[in-house]
Amino acid sequence: MERTFVMIKPDGVRKGLIGPILTRFEQKGFKLQEMKLMRIERDKAEQHYQEHREKAFFGELVSFLTSGQVCAMVWEGPNAVAAARLLIGHTNPANAAPGTIRGDFALEVAENIIHGSDSAESADREMELFFGTDAKPGIPSFD
Ligand code: CMP
Repeated sequence: MERTFVMIKPDGVRKGLIGPILTRFEQKGFKLQEMKLMRIERDKAEQHYQEHREKAFFGELVSFLTSGQVCAMVWEGPNAVAAARLLIGHTNPANAAPGTIRGDFALEVAENIIHGSDSAESADREMELFFGTDAKPGIPSFD
C-alpha cells in the first residue's frame, strides 16, 4: 500500500469541486487517510513548490496558492502516487484527457484545480509538510 498527497487548489474550492473530486477518488477505490480545509502561509507554499523556485511562474504560483482555501488530503491505495496522477490528468488541462479531473474541470495550467505528488519521495515530503506525523501509517484504517 502507498500513500500520496493531493491538494484541491483555491480555484477548485471556489468552483465547489471538493465533493466531485472526493467522489472520484473514492469511486476509484482510494482510502482517505487525512483531510484538512485550510489557508496556506506564503512560506509553506514556497516550501511545497521548492522544485519550481527558479521557474518564471513561481511567484504567480505561490500567490495563487495563497489566494484562498485549499483542501489538503492524503489518499492510500496500491501505487497511489501514479494512480492518483492518472486520475488527475496532464498538468496542462488543455492537454488533459476528458474523464480526468483536469480534463473535465479546467482549461489553464496556472489554475489547474488540483495537485498530486509526482513521486513517492515528493509524497513523503508533502505529507510531512501538511500533516506532520499524522500522515504516517499507524493504526490500520477500518474497511
Ligand atoms: P502542480 O501539479 O501543482 O505542480 C506545479 C504547478 O505549477 C502545476 O501544477 C501548475 O499549476 C503550475 N504551472 C506549471 N507550468 C506553469 C506555467 N507555465 N504557468 C503557470 N503555472 C504553471
